[in-house]
Formats: sequence, C-alpha cells, structure tokens
Amino acid sequence: MFLFQHTPDSEPGSLSYLLYCVGQGKAIAVDVHTSEVDLYLEKAAQKGVTISHVVDTHVHADHFTGGLELAKRAGGEYCLFKDSPAQCDFTPLADGQVIKAGNVHAQVLHTPGHTEDSICLLVTDKSRCDEPWFLVSGHTLFVGSVGRPDLRGREQEMVEKLYDSIHNKLLVLPDYMEILPGAQAGSVCGAGISGKPVSTIGFEKRHNPTLSMSREDFKKTVLGAMLPYPEGMDKIIAFNANPAFK
Ligand SMILES: [Fe+2]
Repeated sequence: MFLFQHTPDSEPGSLSYLLYCVGQGKAIAVDVHTSEVDLYLEKAAQKGVTISHVVDTHVHADHFTGGLELAKRAGGEYCLFKDSPAQCDFTPLADGQVIKAGNVHAQVLHTPGHTEDSICLLVTDKSRCDEPWFLVSGHTLFVGSVGRPDLRGREQEMVEKLYDSIHNKLLVLPDYMEILPGAQAGSVCGAGISGKPVSTIGFEKRHNPTLSMSREDFKKTVLGAMLPYPEGMDKIIAFNANPAFK
C-alpha cells in the first residue's frame, strides 16, 4: 500500500488522502477539495492506479468538496455514509462495510458527533496482514483535539454522540494504531488542533486532554470552545450537499 497525504495551499488546515495499491492498480481518495481534483487525477495517473472510490468523511462545512467531480472524472464511485443529507448520486456506506481497492481495505466506522453522517476509515494492507494499520479519522478525532459538535445545531445531543463515538469506536483500538486526521492546525472544525498531521491512539490517550475527561467535563470543554464558524459555511454546506459537477 502507498499513502499520499496532502494539504491544499488555499486551506492549510485541511488534509486529504490517496490510499493506493499499485499491484492491483486501485486507489481510494478521501476528503478531496475542489482545488485538488486535478492533482489527484495526475497523482493516480503517475502511479498507474485508477481511483475506484472517492470518500467524503462527512458533508463538510469548511471547504467545497471535489469528491463528486473526482469520482466522475476518474470513473469511480462517490461514497458517503448512507444517511448523509447529500442529494447528489452517491454510493451509500454502512457501518462496518469494507471498501476494497486492491489490497487496500478500508472499513467504515460510523462515528456521529461532529456531524450525524461522520465516518472514519480503518485501513488494512491485505498484502501484509489482516490487521488494520491506521485510522483515517476525518473530523472526529484530531491530533490534540476532537471535532466540534455544534456546526448543525443540536449541539447538546451531538456532543453526547461524539463522546460515545470516540470512546466506543476509536479508543478501543490498539494504542499502536496510527491516526491520519482530516484537519490540522488552521482548521476551525476543532479547538487547538496540532499542526502535526499524524498521531497514534496511544499518543492521543496520553496527550489529548479531552480524551481523559469525564463525560460531563468533555461536554463542558468541547461546547465551551467558542470557535468561529467557517467562513461562508451555509454556502459551502449547500454546495456539498448537492455538488455542482454533473
Ligand atoms: Fe468538518
């Protein structure tokens, strides 16, 4: 398996990914911006792989998605969680489902909290072993922080879901599990996110302050962060729910 992580120049807080299997010529792209579509097509061509799946880990509120455009131009499937509010054509993903791109297998973990449709991907390189290597954690878990639960309202309910998703689905993974987050410092999708774009479950358990808090303290801290809303958020959400590319 090969792994490419990228930050668009225009939005240095965001992180997107290409996970690919050169042997079988397949790739999965995750959380790609409109400004990155050409880059991902070039990268795939350069490596001799076809992008079979393009995943958005949720309907983003902080950047315009290039997911649907990339999927259509690459001839792949555009994938979102099955209960996504998106109105475009997409392949619905279920909790536990495995997306296969050659030897790269990505298991979908539904982790509501940042948004209702948030997912993470637990990724295995089947050419090496049957155990997952890393977690693409979307906007659920960041290095040093967690996803904000207040972008779509219902924040009291969403923060409870976020706590449950993190504790029941992510912190039960082995400490050595690597974390590749969907954002880093500069993003307003979480408070005080580190500028280091990779971590492990064990490191986060030790150094991410919100993870060792009681449920009540977690709720108070996460909801008390008072982050500004992403610029142009309503317009971005409207676009991402029904991307303009046909
Ligand atoms: Fe987000």
